[in-house]
Amino acid sequence: MSDAFITNGRIIDPANDIDEVGDLSIANGKIASVNSSRTSRAVQQSQTATVYDAAGLIVTPGLIDMHVHLREPGFEHKETIATGTAAAAAGGFTSIACMANTSPVIDTPEKIEQIYDIASKTAKTNVFPFGSITKNLAGDELTDMRGMYSAGAVGFSDDGVTVMNAALMRDALALSAELGFPIMVHCEEHNLNAGAVMNLGETSRKLGLIGSPNAAEDIIVARDIMLAEMTGGHLHVLHVSTAGAVGLVRQGKLRGVHVTAEACPHHWLLTDTEIEKQGTDAKMHPPLRTQTDIDAVIEGLCDGTIDAIATDHAPHAPEEKKQGMLEAPNGIIGLETCVPLVFTSLVEPGHLTAAEAIAKMTAIPASLLGINRGTLAIGTVGDVTVINPDLVNQVDVTKSRSKSQNTPFSGWKLKGWQAVTLREGREI
Ligand code: DOR
Repeated sequence: MSDAFITNGRIIDPANDIDEVGDLSIANGKIASVNSSRTSRAVQQSQTATVYDAAGLIVTPGLIDMHVHLREPGFEHKETIATGTAAAAAGGFTSIACMANTSPVIDTPEKIEQIYDIASKTAKTNVFPFGSITKNLAGDELTDMRGMYSAGAVGFSDDGVTVMNAALMRDALALSAELGFPIMVHCEEHNLNAGAVMNLGETSRKLGLIGSPNAAEDIIVARDIMLAEMTGGHLHVLHVSTAGAVGLVRQGKLRGVHVTAEACPHHWLLTDTEIEKQGTDAKMHPPLRTQTDIDAVIEGLCDGTIDAIATDHAPHAPEEKKQGMLEAPNGIIGLETCVPLVFTSLVEPGHLTAAEAIAKMTAIPASLLGINRGTLAIGTVGDVTVINPDLVNQVDVTKSRSKSQNTPFSGWKLKGWQAVTLREGREI
């Protein structure tokens, strides 16, 4: 825990409806003042306070990524909690929620405790684990969600695979209605998706590769919204990639269903033609789609249908990604490129204001996960991110803190980068 004094920044704190130039101070690891000269001076005068001149910069609550794969335990050759959180800190994130598709799968209260234990020893950022919905992600038996929730799970997900059994999903959502946690769903109907390595369309036909139709996603999104409606549970749709899914979430919200959604930068920036240029570095689940889908995802971000921005940071080792389109695993890294991609592609062209974009990476994910972060309210944890909206830089994946380098954004010139990340007032 440290003291810090950040001067003259544009403080954007969507949770408290603040967007103004001023000073922010952190004392003993907690937010001590926002624009109050009396407390600020006291912190500035303290021996230990680090002073940051934030003139021309944006000062926000520590960013939150609600969708990250940390791979530990079991896949430490791809990432560890130490390296994944180092990449998160470098990307401006102070809190991340990690997926359960590790080996073994995070499917018991003891395993939730194990993640917290490793994170307390090695993580640079706060780590909030998800438990799996089904045992061993096998899709045929529910986990002890009640026990895992008590142990600190912030939600439940079989991300990477879809829970195909609708009755199990009904039961999971019924428990969500009782206890209040979110059920985070990966939506791809397995049979329609069988053997697919990319989106179904012109490019897949040209390349002679098996494609997955938009309907594979839309069918599961529709089913799960119906189940959320029936049970009153909180459904969170992960990495929305199709125009149909955006429309279904929008309609669900209008009907009063407790459905929320997130989008990842690659799904509003790249089309399936990228597979031709980048091969397996553009291979992920759900796949890159078409311009029509991109337009719908951006519209969903603008009108609030898509609540949050997340990365689906999915590290895979170079030798795995080199295996070719059929064998290579799905996923790309994303923690260190998210802020500049958001600023360059959403804020700069005017799709979202800076405050709207930051809300989708702070207050909104904090509220979806029920964590006491994402705010600069006095007395709350002093997690703060400073962003330089004018800094232009090229993505250099060789400098990544992640163990893996699988990104389609290598070499992209982007504007608006994270500058400083503070966790409890200390620079990470
Ligand atoms: O592309 C993906 N990779 N999508 C997922 O949902 C899972 C992830 C992974 O674990 O590699």
